[in-house]
Amino acid sequence: MRETLKIAIQTRGRLNEESMNLIAGAGIKLIPGRRKLISAAKNFPMEVLFLRDDDITQTVADAVADVGIVGENEVLEKKLDVVISKRLGFSKCRLSLAIPKTVEYPGPVFFNGKKIATSYPVMLKDYLTKYKINAEIHRISGSVEIAPGIGLADAIFDIVSSGSTLVSNRLKEVEVVAKSEAVLIRNTNLSRGKKKILDEFIFRTESVQRAEGKKYILLNAPNEKIQDIANLLPGMKSPTVLPLAQEGWSSIHSVIEENDFWEVIDKLKKTGAEGILVVPIEKMIF
Ligand code: PRP
Ligand code: ZN
Repeated sequence: MRETLKIAIQTRGRLNEESMNLIAGAGIKLIPGRRKLISAAKNFPMEVLFLRDDDITQTVADAVADVGIVGENEVLEKKLDVVISKRLGFSKCRLSLAIPKTVEYPGPVFFNGKKIATSYPVMLKDYLTKYKINAEIHRISGSVEIAPGIGLADAIFDIVSSGSTLVSNRLKEVEVVAKSEAVLIRNTNLSRGKKKILDEFIFRTESVQRAEGKKYILLNAPNEKIQDIANLLPGMKSPTVLPLAQEGWSSIHSVIEENDFWEVIDKLKKTGAEGILVVPIEKMIF
């Protein structure tokens, strides 16, 4: 029997869209289902389970799903036996302590004897223990940011991304306790077949991620300028140089970082490069 890899991702929320993009970017097409709890893939041995963020780590630890995409904070909070296979680089955020904007902050001692509202009591407790702070942890499952305003707590410990939730609740971030991003986690006991599928999935996503922020550049230049241009365009190994029909000219191809693009273009033009084309790269395989 051919095995399938069951991957659990968030139904909605901060990780959903990027998780779907990752799967689509790997060339995996899902069969649209009426009940959107589980979708099989058409062209890859994979099934996608759509779950609440909160449940994904447990599901993977219990082998109900083989792998999952969650915020690293979920792994740190749940302390379950799962392995991080790959850091995914999206949904970056901080887990921070915040207090009302108008309250003076003398440092971590502030929290002694205070009440802190959070959905991440385990991470918070680890922090308080480490810094020998004696505070009361008030666990709530959502809308943590309103707790100080309604007199439920003196401070909060929560996810901060853009910071706009804090601003609109008149809070200020005073301690960054941890940083987090989306991670691909797996069960500790995957069969060999499933491991192979996972490796293939990771290989495909890495090829796509590697291409992000990179462009393919083509240009024409007089032969005596090839070395100058090659110095400006190191490329993956070295640029490809092809002779043009026109005597004494060549076509040069390479890969550049999108961020370096405008700076390099200027320098290239000064060397005498012509007909510069910059095109997107879909995948990069080494
Ligand atoms: C987190 C956190 C804040 C918000 C912070 O909630 O609890 O509410 O994001 O983001 P910001 O700094 O960009 O404003 P999330 O969206 O994960 O949903 P939840 O609180 O309902 O779980
Ligand atoms: Zn929230």
